[in-house]
Amino acid sequence: MTEQLDLSAQAILRANDRGGYTVPNGQVYPFQWNWDSAFVAMGFATFDPGRGWQELETLFKAQWPGGFVPHIVFWQDDDGYFPGPDIWASGTNPRTSGITQPPVAATAARVVWERAPTAEFRTRLEALFPKLMAYHRWFRDMRDPEKRGIVVTVHPWETGRDNSPEWDAPGDPLDVSQVGQYARRDTGHLDAKMRPTKLEYDRYLALVQFGRSTGWDQARIARESPFRVADVGMSMILLRANRDLLVLAELLGKADEADELRAMIARSEAGIEFLWDPDKQCWASRDMITRKPSGFVTSASFLSFYAGLRDADKDAATLAHFARIAAKVRFMVPSLDPEDPGFQMVRYWRGPVWAVVNWMIGTGLLEQGRSAEGERVVRDTRSMMNQTGFFEAYSPIDGAGSGGDDFSWTAAIWLLLAER
Ligand code: DGY
Repeated sequence: MTEQLDLSAQAILRANDRGGYTVPNGQVYPFQWNWDSAFVAMGFATFDPGRGWQELETLFKAQWPGGFVPHIVFWQDDDGYFPGPDIWASGTNPRTSGITQPPVAATAARVVWERAPTAEFRTRLEALFPKLMAYHRWFRDMRDPEKRGIVVTVHPWETGRDNSPEWDAPGDPLDVSQVGQYARRDTGHLDAKMRPTKLEYDRYLALVQFGRSTGWDQARIARESPFRVADVGMSMILLRANRDLLVLAELLGKADEADELRAMIARSEAGIEFLWDPDKQCWASRDMITRKPSGFVTSASFLSFYAGLRDADKDAATLAHFARIAAKVRFMVPSLDPEDPGFQMVRYWRGPVWAVVNWMIGTGLLEQGRSAEGERVVRDTRSMMNQTGFFEAYSPIDGAGSGGDDFSWTAAIWLLLAER
């Protein structure tokens, strides 16, 4: 059974390969997505490390001169997705979006490297390293205006957790009156109850219009975007990625870059407390305009272990939330606290479990010796896939699939967990 699933997972990655990059899902997401590709690279590394490197190399071919790496690369046309390249109007070649996504790439590079540390792959790591460095510097310079070592996002799509309720209050003041008529394509492929609402889409598009009106001037967007939220998910993921990039810098003997990364890590370790919500006793995102914490316990609240943070009181409070939630759901880790009134078991980031987030949470818990919790996360992730197949996400209540089927990053996580 397990072997059969290994083969199916590999077959999904091969089938979604478009020649050097992998689409998350052929219908719903027919281009290259940034953090999807990072997870896919790790999945490929379990059976074809060269193809894992290629996934990252293709993504970084779309890097902009300032280090920015877009969240979507439109390598070819496909009118099955909205908003396409004409709406983003990046003016680049290849055409891309104008926002980024959680920076998992450096972590992926480390995992891919460690699976097959050969001379050939060292050359590829050496070639990718400066691009990863430039990407991390870009985050430092363009997404952290108060220099706290966190990530201040300017678009819900950038967080990867598109319709998390964390973006509701910061999104309320957005003016959507100029968005006009548009035809969504996602709800043509999938049941609308699994997807973000019309109001959320209006807000996504108003923010795309804003970015485009600046000519995708990232410094200006960082200063003036009407949506500026310190995202706990991206902040934890970047901190982890900086640690992984540091390991690679040391391996390659890049002393100056290693010092630079140590400084970024130290800044985050000192500043990330800004994202601790003392009332809710959880890690949570925070609106930079109103300065208010979101007040939501989400799956991103459990990424502190993955980020390598250790703080006895905060860890205990975080694990108490974990235990409370674990008693309520069959499958950990729901994207939103099931006791929250807004919890919905199939609506995208308002309840469903995402295998990629589980992989990060489980990895962090196990690394920090939280075996019972870590094993629960790994076990649940594997059983959802065993029961249902490789969906985009799953209901935490009954494990039913949510979103697209034959999903690349879910297949990748199966392969990564297969050896545990
Ligand atoms: C979408 O279109 O749903 C994507 O998540 C945006 O990146």
